[in-house]
Amino acid sequence: MDGTLDVERIELGAEIVVVRRLESDDEARACARIMATSEPWMTLGRGYEASLEILHDPSRETYVARTDNEVVGFVILSMRGAFVGYIQTIALRHDWRGRGLGTKLIAFVERRILRDAPNVFLCVSSFNTRARALYERLGYQVVGELRDYVVRGHSEWLLRKSVAPLADWTTSRGQLAFEPRRDLE
Ligand SMILES: CC(C)(COP(=O)(O)OP(=O)(O)OC[C@H]1O[C@@H](n2cnc3c(N)ncnc32)[C@H](O)[C@@H]1OP(=O)(O)O)[C@@H](O)C(=O)NCCC(=O)NCCS
Repeated sequence: MDGTLDVERIELGAEIVVVRRLESDDEARACARIMATSEPWMTLGRGYEASLEILHDPSRETYVARTDNEVVGFVILSMRGAFVGYIQTIALRHDWRGRGLGTKLIAFVERRILRDAPNVFLCVSSFNTRARALYERLGYQVVGELRDYVVRGHSEWLLRKSVAPLADWTTSRGQLAFEPRRDLE
């Protein structure tokens, strides 16, 4: 894969944020701190060590958003398994929220996913109404409710944004496992 496709420079007022693959343990620790000190993960009981484990999972793709000096956010993707193109986690540091960076990070990650799969999936906690509103504004649709999924008493809403059925999709590396229906062409 061409690594240059996975780098983005975002201008946010006078500040420049670069988005690229996670490169170091220091960066992973900064991301784990953001997660462990923020909702929804506090309510969901995902602490620092559990967050770090996810950040070190080699089956995931993690991108950090950072200035010259520090990590200000990150996104973890899964490009394997049942829901290819699943945004597992997206988070910004408290002081970087509400300035449009999350919207730009989602656009970046959608472009990355749509190179290889026609769906973007994510889950949002039932109590995270602001994040859900953002996703719906960006074109995500609710697929269903996973009741008591992470913790009892709260649901996760599975959301999806789709550009094509799997069978019609050709990835950057060739076709998916589905043969296109030539008879429909
Ligand atoms: C969700 C998040 C990535 C969005 O990034 P952002 O840069 O704050 O969002 P933008 O500035 O691009 O868009 C603003 C919208 O994001 C949502 N938003 C803003 N702050 C938020 C927060 N603290 N938590 C959840 N959603 C938030 C709102 O819908 C907001 O729109 P509004 O101002 O009309 O209410 C970021 O707010 C965040 O890290 N939140 C905490 C972690 C989280 O909820 N992650 C999503 C888990 S599914």
